[in-house]
Amino acid sequence: MCGIVGYVGKRNAAEILIDGLKRLEYRGYDSAGLALKTDKGLLILKEVGKVADLERMLQDRAPVSNQGIGHTRWATHGGVTLANAHPHKDGSGRFAIVHNGIIENFMDLKEELERDGVVFISETDTEAIVHLIARFYSETGDILATLVALQKKLRGSFALAMIQQDFPDRIYCVRKGSPLVIGSGNGESFCASDVPAFLPYTRNIQYLDEGDIAEISLQGIKIWDENGEPSEKPVVTVDWDVTMTEKSGFSHYMLKEIHEQGMVLRSTLKGRTADGRISIDQELGWDAETVSRWDKIHIVACGTSYYASLVAERVLEKWTDFDIKVDVASEYRYRHIRCDSSTLAIFVSQSGETADTIAAQRKARSEGAHCMAITNVRGSTLAREVHSVMLLKAGPEIGVAATKTFTGQMAALFLVALQLGRLRGTLSPEEEERLINEFLQIPYKVELLLEREQEIRGLAMNYADKSNFLFIGRGISFPIALEGALKLKEISYIHAEAYAAGEMKHGPIALLEPEVPVVAVIPRDGLYEKTLSNIQEAKARNAPLIAICTEGDTHIAKYVQAVVEIPWTDEEFTPFLTVVPLQFLAFHIALLKGKEIDQPRNLAKSVTVE
Ligand code: G6P
Repeated sequence: MCGIVGYVGKRNAAEILIDGLKRLEYRGYDSAGLALKTDKGLLILKEVGKVADLERMLQDRAPVSNQGIGHTRWATHGGVTLANAHPHKDGSGRFAIVHNGIIENFMDLKEELERDGVVFISETDTEAIVHLIARFYSETGDILATLVALQKKLRGSFALAMIQQDFPDRIYCVRKGSPLVIGSGNGESFCASDVPAFLPYTRNIQYLDEGDIAEISLQGIKIWDENGEPSEKPVVTVDWDVTMTEKSGFSHYMLKEIHEQGMVLRSTLKGRTADGRISIDQELGWDAETVSRWDKIHIVACGTSYYASLVAERVLEKWTDFDIKVDVASEYRYRHIRCDSSTLAIFVSQSGETADTIAAQRKARSEGAHCMAITNVRGSTLAREVHSVMLLKAGPEIGVAATKTFTGQMAALFLVALQLGRLRGTLSPEEEERLINEFLQIPYKVELLLEREQEIRGLAMNYADKSNFLFIGRGISFPIALEGALKLKEISYIHAEAYAAGEMKHGPIALLEPEVPVVAVIPRDGLYEKTLSNIQEAKARNAPLIAICTEGDTHIAKYVQAVVEIPWTDEEFTPFLTVVPLQFLAFHIALLKGKEIDQPRNLAKSVTVE
């Protein structure tokens, strides 16, 4: 968690850094700070709260500086206080650093430094790093040697940006275990935790590898590996543009991102099917021989990405003949699930930086699995470590609660399932063509649903005062119930549970009463009648019912207080549609309750610590 940014150039660094921090605020928003290089030395400015609070404080004070580093914090070591806010300085005040990650041997380092007389003024692990830098630099007089020695001393994950009062026009960065990208413009250079931070200024990116050290300066970029050997990194031009990181007239990023889902599906499908056939052979590099080596599929993810994986599990079961296991990364990495060279292990992560998902991938890889990533971020740690990658074409997602990337992940996983079904011979060409034809209709059907936002807003007004919700669904609709409940609790702080509808009788039915609405995801599919029975059980306990059902379902209205109809589609594709009303429901309930929708309390978009 935490976002870091650095700038060296000719423009007003404070403005660029604040702008960059706002674009990184999805990574944490407990406190924010800058270190600016001025004629009088380093100026450190910090504020508890959001980047906007820091910006307000800067209005009358920021000196003109063309070089600096910035940080937005999600607290790990030490509470949310001014002293713990980054940047942190060494005792002499000549070095300042910002840090994303966790230093695991921080207590040992702190004790060692304190024995040498160093005085700590914060509770952070970061402060130990800056004191170590100052110590190594005073011993070697060489910054590269200092940063090489520093890496050998630190255990844990870190992305650092460092500024030194006496170094002319340059910032140093180190990346190990936490994301850091470098951007080069015309006579100016940037570093940041994520590309959107500097997207208004450059799209030319260099991705650092584990252990890399970079110098960003007016003259350009220099990169070394962890041993201090020069390292060449290709400059990649990203296809994101700055409008993708703006709200474009919407009140919230989340709302904008919900409305982008038709477009996301269209771009994720584009060029990946041709004439009714799946066409991703080259992208994945698999052929019939490759997939004949596998008999198991593991899908591993966290949060919303896990729910997209649960949807995919049901589709893979239907279209292929593999043994399939789906698990959350924080469990998978510590379990003893059989994993070997006959396993295709798919890791699903919007950011490609979730610590547990990365660790799970490393475990599966070490056991011989073929590892694949499905991610939205090219150049992310996960994307760079696996054997095969499929990128979502969702554009940057800024709202902390994932919406459009959930849809994009399901689409990417469906493409993989179609490809596996074809290569294994478990899907006939006719069936493949029929499925692809329907898949290509889904973006239009999603857009039809998006037009019904006001209807769902009306529904939200009737239920926003409730304190508990139950979401139910069966089969492929069960993960959608889970996702609907997650969205509601994340952004409105209402307690919401999701159950496989058939499990309701084994516990949650005891909670039902007129104050507990039940949201039933019940499209017309093979399990319709079964879910309908569960709805009747809930009705008999006087729970108010909302049904997400298929258009033309006149039957269900007899049992429920409210219906939201989705366009007709095949059973497999219903999740792309049933999830949309649930996203709107969560959004509008949170809006009515006056919550901070894009930045819910205690959450961060990218969880880079275990
Ligand atoms: C956090 C975010 C969620 C996200 C999850 C997994 O909890 O708040 O929105 O689903 O991490 O993130 P990933 O980037 O791995 O998909």
